[in-house]
Amino acid sequence: MKKINILLVLLLVISSQLYAEPPNQWVMCSSCHGPSGEGGVGPKLQGESAEEIRSDLKDYKVGKVKGPLSSLMFPMVSDLTEADIDALAKYIETL
Ligand code: HEC
Repeated sequence: MKKINILLVLLLVISSQLYAEPPNQWVMCSSCHGPSGEGGVGPKLQGESAEEIRSDLKDYKVGKVKGPLSSLMFPMVSDLTEADIDALAKYIETL
C-alpha cells in the first residue's frame, strides 16, 4: 500500500511538471497569440482561465463563429483531441 501511495505522489509531481511545459501545439498557437499569450494576430490569451479557453476551443471545433476572425481558428482546432484541448487550456492559464 505504501509503495502505491509513493507511486501516486510521484505521478502527480511528474504530471504537474508536464503541464508547466508547453504542449507541442503551443508552438503553432504562439505564432499568432504570442509566446506568452500576450497577443498578436490573435487576441491576448493571458489572464484567461482554463475553463474559458476550453470552452472557446470547443466552440471553434464545432464551427461556432465568435468574432470576425473565427475562420482563422477553425483549422487550428480541427485536429485537437479533448486531451489536447485540456492540456492547452491548463497551460495557457499559467501564462
Ligand atoms: C493564424 C493565427 C492563429 C493561430 C495559429 C491560432 N490562433 Fe487562436 N485566434 C486567432 C484569431 C484571429 C482569433 C480571434 C478569432 C475570432 O474572431 O473569433 C483567435 C481566438 C482564439 C481564442 C479565443 C480568445 C478570446 O478571448 O476570444 C482562443 C482561446 C485561441 N484562439 C486559442 C488558440 C490556440 C490554443 C491555438 C493553437 C492550437 C491557436 N489559438 C492558434 C488566431 C490564431
